[in-house]
Amino acid sequence: MALSTGSKRVKTAVFISGTGSNLKSLIKFSKLKKSPISIELIVSNNPKSKGLHFGKIFKIRKKIFNFKKQTITEKEILLYLKKRKINLICLAGFLKILSKNFIQNFDGKILNIHPSLLPKYKGLNTHKRAIINKDEHSGCTVHFVNSKLDSGKIINQKKVKINKSDTPQSLAKKVLAQEHKLYPKAILKIFSL
Ligand code: GRF
Repeated sequence: MALSTGSKRVKTAVFISGTGSNLKSLIKFSKLKKSPISIELIVSNNPKSKGLHFGKIFKIRKKIFNFKKQTITEKEILLYLKKRKINLICLAGFLKILSKNFIQNFDGKILNIHPSLLPKYKGLNTHKRAIINKDEHSGCTVHFVNSKLDSGKIINQKKVKINKSDTPQSLAKKVLAQEHKLYPKAILKIFSL
């Protein structure tokens, strides 16, 4: 399915599980004149996600789904998204792995941000692994989501230098600051293609 804005902004849902700092940066971006998206919905699998409070601050609908029975939950989410005419999903620190079936239902319309220079360090603990391997750089990647974890087509990346004194925490902080710029840029890029 091709992404197209037409004259209207594309209705977007952001999926989170935690702090939601990328969610916040996406919301701020979505309010700019140049933004091709409007964020209509925040989805979380975790009622304790700190990021949910951005729903209240920015008056965006929130919806929590319990993933105990993932197949059923995903069907419910798909129905809900359809009802709300959501046409783009941005994963932003969403810790559940969506099924092939779910992804096929939103083919080419799910994006993710990952804290490494993919294809290096798929999965978790990316900063720790980069430091242990004495890499010179870490970074972040925005990519389309396909059915293989962190393996979809790359949209854009940003390198971040690793200093000798960096810990996984200090590196995560530096990379996160870049993530907040990279995700909006990725969205502008895919809609200008
Ligand atoms: C980010 O590092 C993102 O790349 C990863 O999870 C983290 C989420 O941070 N997928 P936040 O919840 O957006 O602050």
